[in-house]
Amino acid sequence: MTGNSSTQEHFPFDALTERWRSLHASGPIRYDERQSAWQVTEYEAVSAILADPGTFSSDFSSAGPTQEDFELFRQGNFVGMDPPEHRKLRTLVSQAFTPRVVNGLAPRIEAVCARLLDAVADRDRFDLVDELAYPLPIIVIAELLGIPADDHKLFQEWASTLFGGDVLGDAPDMAELERALNAIAPTVREMNGYVLDHIRRRRANPGEDLTSKLLAAEVDGARLEDQEIVGFVALLLVAGHITTTALLGSAVVTFDRHPGTLRSLRADPGRVPEAVEEVLRWLPPFAELGRRTTRPVVVGGQELDAGSMVVAHLGAANRDPARFTAPEVFDPARNPNPHLTFGHGIHFCFGAPLARLEARIALRMLLDRFSDLAVPSYGEVTFQNPSVIVGVRHLPVEVVRQQ
Ligand code: HEM
Repeated sequence: MTGNSSTQEHFPFDALTERWRSLHASGPIRYDERQSAWQVTEYEAVSAILADPGTFSSDFSSAGPTQEDFELFRQGNFVGMDPPEHRKLRTLVSQAFTPRVVNGLAPRIEAVCARLLDAVADRDRFDLVDELAYPLPIIVIAELLGIPADDHKLFQEWASTLFGGDVLGDAPDMAELERALNAIAPTVREMNGYVLDHIRRRRANPGEDLTSKLLAAEVDGARLEDQEIVGFVALLLVAGHITTTALLGSAVVTFDRHPGTLRSLRADPGRVPEAVEEVLRWLPPFAELGRRTTRPVVVGGQELDAGSMVVAHLGAANRDPARFTAPEVFDPARNPNPHLTFGHGIHFCFGAPLARLEARIALRMLLDRFSDLAVPSYGEVTFQNPSVIVGVRHLPVEVVRQQ
C-alpha cells in the first residue's frame, strides 16, 4: 500500500472532524434536541460517566418498543444490563471467552483472510468491504461458536438483513423503530431457532468451541440459560461484527489518506498495532454511547434530573485537546493512546482483543500481498450513517500485487 492520488479530494470523514470540533467548542455538555439527550464531550467527564453505572444506567429495556422475538435477545444481552445482573452474565461468559481462546483463533483468522483474498486474486480492483472487512468478522464469530462451515453463509445472510440496510434515519421516532424491528423480526426468529438448535446439539455432543464452553461455564453454582446464550450470540453479532468491519474499512481509507503511514508500516510492520490504535481513536465505530441517569446529578456544571438521557460522546472525547496532543492529527505512532473507543468501566468491550487481532492480521496480510493498495476516488466510497456507526459501507480499492 502506498496511498493514492486522491489526497486532494474532499475526504468525507472531515465532516466528522468538524462536527466533533464544534462539540468541544460548545462546552463540556449541551442538550441536543434531535436526540432529546445531553451530549457530554470531555474525556474526563465521559470516563467518569462510564465508570459510574449506578448513576448512569445502561438499561433502556423499559424505554424501547417491545417485540417478542427480541425478548430472547435481551436475556443474554448484558451490554444493556446494570449490576448485579450484568456481573453475573459477564463473569460466566468470561470463563468461556478467555484470552487463550482468542489467541488460539489467530491461525484461523489468518486462514480466513487468506481465503477471502485468494478469491479476488485475479482482480486488480475490488470492494474491500464486500470481499474482506464484512465477511471476516462474521466468519470468525461463527467459527468461534462452532457453527459448521456450511452454515456460515446463513450467518452472513442474517447479518446483511440485520445491518445491511439504512434501516433507520438520523432521528428515529418510536413508530419508526417499531417498523424497523417488525421488518427484521422474521430474521431474528430464524436466527434464534437456529442458535437454540445449535445449543442443543452441543449440549448432547460438546466440542472445543465457545458454545460448548458457555454451556459448561459455572460461577457459584449458576449456569447460563439457553436463552441467555442465544442473547449473547446476538450480542456478539451486533457488537462484534459491524464494528470490526468499520475498523478495517476506516483503517484502509485513513492509511490511504496519509500515505506516509503506509510507507512506515511497510518498512516496519511491527508498528501495525499502534497504527490500529490510532485508527480506533480517530474514528471510533460507536461514536456515541447512551446512558440514563438514575438520580439527579451534576455533569459539567449542568444539573440533570433523574431519568435524563445522556450521550457519552466517544468521538469527541477521543479528540479532547485536554487529553491528547494535537488531537485532530492522525498520528499512527501515537503512544500512549488511551482512547475510549472500547468504552470504559464494567462494560469495557469484551471483544477488544479479538477486534485488535483481526485488524492486525488483516492489515498485515494486505501489506504483505499488495505493493500498492489505493482508493482511486473518494467519490465512490459510501458511508454508514455516522449516528449509528462510523465507517464505510463500500470501499472500492485498486491493488498491485507483490512480485
Ligand atoms: C461492548 C466497541 C468489537 C463484544 C463494547 C462497548 C464498546 C465496544 C464501546 C461498550 C458499550 C457500552 O459501554 O455501552 C467495540 C468496537 C469494536 C468491538 C469499536 C471493534 C473495533 C467487538 C468484538 C466483540 C465485541 C469483536 C466480540 C466478538 C462486545 C461485548 C460487549 C461490548 C460482548 C459488552 C460488554 C459488557 O457490557 O460488559 N464494545 N467493540 N466487541 N463488545 Fe465490543
